[in-house]
Amino acid sequence: MSDAAVEIEYLRKRYGRFEALGGVSLTVPKGSVFGLLGPNGAGKSTLVKSLLTIIRPTECRGTLLGAPIGDRKTLRRVGYLPEQARFPEYLTGRQVISYSGQLTGVSNSEIKSRMDGLLSLVGMQGWADKAVSTYSKGMRQRIGLAQAMINTPDLIFLDEPTDGVDPEGRIDIRRMIDTMKAAGQTVFVNSHLLSEVEQVADYVAILARGQVIRSAPMSELTRGGQRYVIRSSGPVPPFVREKLEQNGIKVAGDTVTLETDNVSTVQPVIDALRTANVLIREIREEKPSLEDIFLEAVKGQGREAA
Ligand SMILES: Nc1ncnc2c1ncn2[C@@H]1O[C@H](COP(=O)(O)OP(=O)(O)O)[C@@H](O)[C@H]1O
Ligand SMILES: [Mg+2]
Repeated sequence: MSDAAVEIEYLRKRYGRFEALGGVSLTVPKGSVFGLLGPNGAGKSTLVKSLLTIIRPTECRGTLLGAPIGDRKTLRRVGYLPEQARFPEYLTGRQVISYSGQLTGVSNSEIKSRMDGLLSLVGMQGWADKAVSTYSKGMRQRIGLAQAMINTPDLIFLDEPTDGVDPEGRIDIRRMIDTMKAAGQTVFVNSHLLSEVEQVADYVAILARGQVIRSAPMSELTRGGQRYVIRSSGPVPPFVREKLEQNGIKVAGDTVTLETDNVSTVQPVIDALRTANVLIREIREEKPSLEDIFLEAVKGQGREAA
């Protein structure tokens, strides 16, 4: 049996003649925060909806929480915040959460006992008995998150959770994702926003035009390409500069750049600068951002396609 929360061996989805997902495989480790990243139209929502049997995949092999994808009983242990979630406007937030609990087979007494904790987690205690029609976009997302959690799911899918949410709300949503992870829940986040995923995910897969083009632990994705940047308070004197450049170290004005992940190789450079009475203002460790990696990956894919 698979120890993964999600194990997609092969997933293909066609809408008519258009292939939205072309033979995707993906593994989501249990207890992780997994970010599925990709531009709009990449197929992220299609992938999640296929796993949840909201749409019918063309071909699908794999497991969800160890059971074959599509297993009804297993879906009760799954939470889902749909993309641009819409709830009936006349329901109150509390009713939306309650209704979702009933759909996933949570008893009324359990719904009642979990309600206050959930409302406070998503910061909606004061609004729970007002109608959805009075909610802002951010408040709708908060209630959407709460209804996704009412069945204390082992696995939770959040499709673009911060879409249309203000910066403060985004921070709150990140905090909620951390809380879910701390509770041992596996969180699968779809996003077209690199910075969002970068801040929460342990694992990232990049999806473009229905294909997974990279999939790796976050730490591995951003490893390599690391460097140290030293900045002095004025231009590096020519004689020091020459010496550094002879050793393959880049110098531009007041900035010295070493392409390495080994901090000990930086020390002799600091010594050389200090010996020459150069005042050091800053030493910085730089890693490539997910954005750099994403652009690189998508670019590579574009070339292949061409
Ligand atoms: N019901 C549908 N019928 C036809 N094409 C669709 C349908 N839903 C999505 N698509 C197309 O499939 C592709 C992937 O869509 P989607 O999964 O929503 O992407 P993402 O969530 O990554 O933005 C897009 O090109 C989209 O236009
Ligand atoms: Mg989508």
